[in-house]
Amino acid sequence: MPPIRRRSIAWIALVATLILLYLYNTSTSPPPSYTQPNLHTNQDDNYFWKSLPVHYPPQSMRPLPTTTPVKYPNIQTPFDEETPEAQTTRQHRQRAVKDVFAKCWSSYREYAWKADELAPVSGGKKNPFGGWAATLVDALDTLWIMGMKPQFDEAVQAAVTIDFTKTDLKQINVFETNIRYLGGFISAFDLSGDERLLHKAIEVGEMLYKAFDTPNRMPITRWDIHAAINGRRQTAPPALLVAEIGSLTMEFTRLSLITGDAKWFDAVQRVMDAMADQQDSTALPGLWPLVVSAKDQVFNIGNTFTLGAMADSVYEYLPKLSALMGGQMPLYQDMYEKAAGAAIKHALYRPMTPNNEDILISGAIKSEDGQITLDPSGQHLVCFLGGLFTLGGRLFNRPQDLSAAIKLVNGCIWTYQALPHGIMPETFHMLPCPSLAGCEWDEQAWKKEVLRLAKDKDKDTTSVDAIIKRDRLPQGFTSIPDRRYILRPEAIESIFILYRATGRPALLDSAWAMFEAINSTTSTTLANSAVRDVTLPREQQPELADSMESFWLGETLKYFYLIFSETDVISLDEYVFNTEAHPFRRLVPRRAEEWQSF
Ligand SMILES: *[C@@H]1O[C@H](CO)[C@@H](O)[C@H](O)[C@H]1NC(C)=O
Repeated sequence: MPPIRRRSIAWIALVATLILLYLYNTSTSPPPSYTQPNLHTNQDDNYFWKSLPVHYPPQSMRPLPTTTPVKYPNIQTPFDEETPEAQTTRQHRQRAVKDVFAKCWSSYREYAWKADELAPVSGGKKNPFGGWAATLVDALDTLWIMGMKPQFDEAVQAAVTIDFTKTDLKQINVFETNIRYLGGFISAFDLSGDERLLHKAIEVGEMLYKAFDTPNRMPITRWDIHAAINGRRQTAPPALLVAEIGSLTMEFTRLSLITGDAKWFDAVQRVMDAMADQQDSTALPGLWPLVVSAKDQVFNIGNTFTLGAMADSVYEYLPKLSALMGGQMPLYQDMYEKAAGAAIKHALYRPMTPNNEDILISGAIKSEDGQITLDPSGQHLVCFLGGLFTLGGRLFNRPQDLSAAIKLVNGCIWTYQALPHGIMPETFHMLPCPSLAGCEWDEQAWKKEVLRLAKDKDKDTTSVDAIIKRDRLPQGFTSIPDRRYILRPEAIESIFILYRATGRPALLDSAWAMFEAINSTTSTTLANSAVRDVTLPREQQPELADSMESFWLGETLKYFYLIFSETDVISLDEYVFNTEAHPFRRLVPRRAEEWQSF
């Protein structure tokens, strides 16, 4: 770079720093959420990932929108003042959640500091996410929210030393890196205003931006990072999971909004524009198939559709982008409404249960030759959908979404309660009622379906009762292919969002029952662990899998803590959560005006 240029950048940086110092000394308000050129210019042109040669520079750069954010309807319901008894109960529960978190954190600190994960039974450590301290970064904002300031400060100091230019992994999962690390840093910055965290967010953002350096600027989602480090040319893959390409938008957009540098926004908008163009021409218009091609930018060929694993957050990020940007991109509401309409029509079913509960489960769909067939599966992961429909229903005034949300959340609560340890398994099947109006319990129909799904070669000679007993199927469940519980957050996530939106007190008790069930079943001496089989009889402790993914501290315990917090703590009208439960500041008109009045 010519020296004259470098000097002028140094000059701009100096001025920007002075302005920053001035602003931070004269104001105690949180960091502004509105685009401010030169506000956060602590970008380092010499940073490794930024200094690598670009093989396929973008032909144009889409600027950030400058329209004033719109005022959406409130997501949160106005809460009445709580009674002293309710307050005591709530605070007791909140304390219990924090105690569990503090125990896990202190074990992570002692046995696995700066590793991706603590092994919560053996006291070992694991590095499946690049070895960049995934648990530490994922838990930063939780530490802040729980008021654990000394631990937060210590964690930030450690985070500063993470080196995102080195890893032992051959392949980086761009999606996971984005939601956990980039999302974690952005959120911790949005909450604390600590510029060191923004600096780390930019480092991760620069690294991930390199995964877009392909001939058509579509990203590589399972990324040979060492090829990139060595300057080799790369191409986006012909087949990848739709969630992995479609869920980079919140983090990239927020990073652009904070820094004023549009390049991340530009990068993800190319993907979303292509997906929007093809949303109506898939085999199930409104939804995208599970597997898509980035290499050829084909998002509309394929027959399998789901809102569950491997697709989920694509849909999740549509209304969340509207919330994040204050509706500056009307495209997202449009995309959401098409997707929600198709999902409610085709993916949701009411299962047959002994008491004919009015609940909904979201299954998978095949659409072939104009034939749409529902696979009546269920997944713990798809429990996020109740929360999503709550947000979409509130933001865009769609009562049908909210009513689906309530039944979906009740479906997750019911499924937890139906299992002996009070915890839902990873995946299961149920028998759909002929219509959403419901159906009477039919023992014979249930058994017939159990037999049909049974994997046994000798199922003709095995009695169905023997299969039910052997597979430990509670009434209503027709198979349970994956019996684990891996400390997932989605059920409590949706209960939390629905609670903030409706204020229904029963949700607090459901949340507490879940928390007690999860804690007592997964507790280890050091922390909490995934378990292998939640279908075992109540008196039998499920085997511990010695695994504690970073989302236990980043998501699950955060949502449990927040539902027992005062209702203005991380208000859904000020923040929107990424798919790893990291709250980002929303653009709302009030804040923009506040900023302009500086
Ligand atoms: C969590 O479960 C463990 C094991 O059952 C128990 O010792 C501990 O008290 C529980 N913690 C809370 C806060 O309920």
